[in-house]
Amino acid sequence: MAPRLSRLLDWFQERLGTREQLTCFLYRRLPEGTTWWHTLGSAALFLILLQTLTGFFLAFYYVPSPEHAYDSLVYIQNEIPFGRYVRGLHYWGASLTVVVVFFHLLRVFFMGAYKYPRELSWVVGVFLFLLVMLFGFTGYLLPWDQKAYWATVVGTHIAGTAPLVGDYLWRILQGGATVGARTLGRFYAAHVLILPVVLYAFILVHLSMVIYQGIAPTPRRGFDRIRKEEYDRLYEASKGKGETFFEHLLRDGVVALPLLLLLVWMAAAWKVPMEGVADPTDTEYVPRPEWYFYFLFELLWQFPGKWIPVATFYIPLAAVLLLLLLPFFDRTAGRSPLKRPLASGLATAALAAIAFLTYQGATAPPPPKAGAALSREMAALPPALARGRAVYDAQGCSACHVLKGTGTAAGPDLTRVGARRDAEWLKRFVRDPAAVKPDSAMPPYTDLPAEDLDALARYLASLK
Ligand code: HEC
Repeated sequence: MAPRLSRLLDWFQERLGTREQLTCFLYRRLPEGTTWWHTLGSAALFLILLQTLTGFFLAFYYVPSPEHAYDSLVYIQNEIPFGRYVRGLHYWGASLTVVVVFFHLLRVFFMGAYKYPRELSWVVGVFLFLLVMLFGFTGYLLPWDQKAYWATVVGTHIAGTAPLVGDYLWRILQGGATVGARTLGRFYAAHVLILPVVLYAFILVHLSMVIYQGIAPTPRRGFDRIRKEEYDRLYEASKGKGETFFEHLLRDGVVALPLLLLLVWMAAAWKVPMEGVADPTDTEYVPRPEWYFYFLFELLWQFPGKWIPVATFYIPLAAVLLLLLLPFFDRTAGRSPLKRPLASGLATAALAAIAFLTYQGATAPPPPKAGAALSREMAALPPALARGRAVYDAQGCSACHVLKGTGTAAGPDLTRVGARRDAEWLKRFVRDPAAVKPDSAMPPYTDLPAEDLDALARYLASLK
């Protein structure tokens, strides 16, 4: 070694104990039987670091305001050298991250690696998964094109259906009566400041736990069933026999490289879908979320009317709680998926349901534009309310009002009008607004048949 370099290394050695540290870190032995599946965690980390890096570059040029967001992206795409590719890397990288993180979760689940003593690593991991999904949700709005805008309108309303906290959540997310400049500011702050800080903090905790516990043993041979009492002895015995951490890092590298190449290829070959600039007055637009939210979106249509919170709140909440608490109620000794049929069976059923709903979402024909969102909503309403909804449309109320993201905002947003007004008040007001509010700018509907007015008022009162 060149004497200078060796002197430099000596300098560090005296201060940091570099040699011992590195030897200790790189040459510690892993338990027997680590596989290629064990590289998914580091692949996820690699992709997250890449997202951060490409995110830095996009943030140099992106302007988070409704007037400039869309144009700033067009500028990045068309004017900045390699801008199109960097954006492509970030956009397709997001999907790839979700896929890899999800497979990592599946790997850990099916290998029973969430069991003693790694219950907390699992809990932190579930939070990491949710955080990655939140990155997807907040990032989706930033381009401020039609699909970004309308998917967020739907998304914030879904958050609003949560019991008790729904209204606060909705207001915090949206920041105003409609999705607008403040919503964009909040989503941007969440996407580039709040979520990254939380994500990296959780990653740090997750990694330090992995280093402390060591990689979980593959549930083969002696490890398909382990009682807690014998775990430490078995693990220690197995540790001497596996590959070194250094060898495992090489494996990680071997996976990261094709992943990077795949992503570069995706960014070069596939265009990032971009629609027209967001138009809050477009009443015909039928929103669709990013593909990894299809299953939630499809779930929505299975639950009509007042049952919607089951799809938007109770099922997702139950699923997350089930995931978080899994290591605490699956306390069997079995680690191999075959030795714990209940957990594996439930997980396989959940996977099949998610796959089916995602497939349905992906292959659903784009609904005929006009009235499609409406007919879906109508189909979801009980008949008594559907009639009121029909009157609402026939009378052209959407010319001045926004309802669940559709219509023109000349008057107040009626999405939650039932929370502030009852049916009696609504009936009186719609019949003759000036009689209720002397200076009202809304036209009277005195000619409306009484049954229609009743139905309309009942429908509006149900919007909470
Ligand atoms: C020409 C525009 C226009 C049309 C059409 C219109 N509205 Fe309005 N509406 C307004 C305006 C503006 C307000 C704001 C309050 C006011 O000026 O009285 C309002 C207020 C309301 C309110 C009160 C909301 C609240 O919480 O105070 C309700 C309910 C309402 N409209 C329902 C309807 C219904 C139902 C229809 C269709 C039958 C309709 N509006 C048609 C302009 C309109």
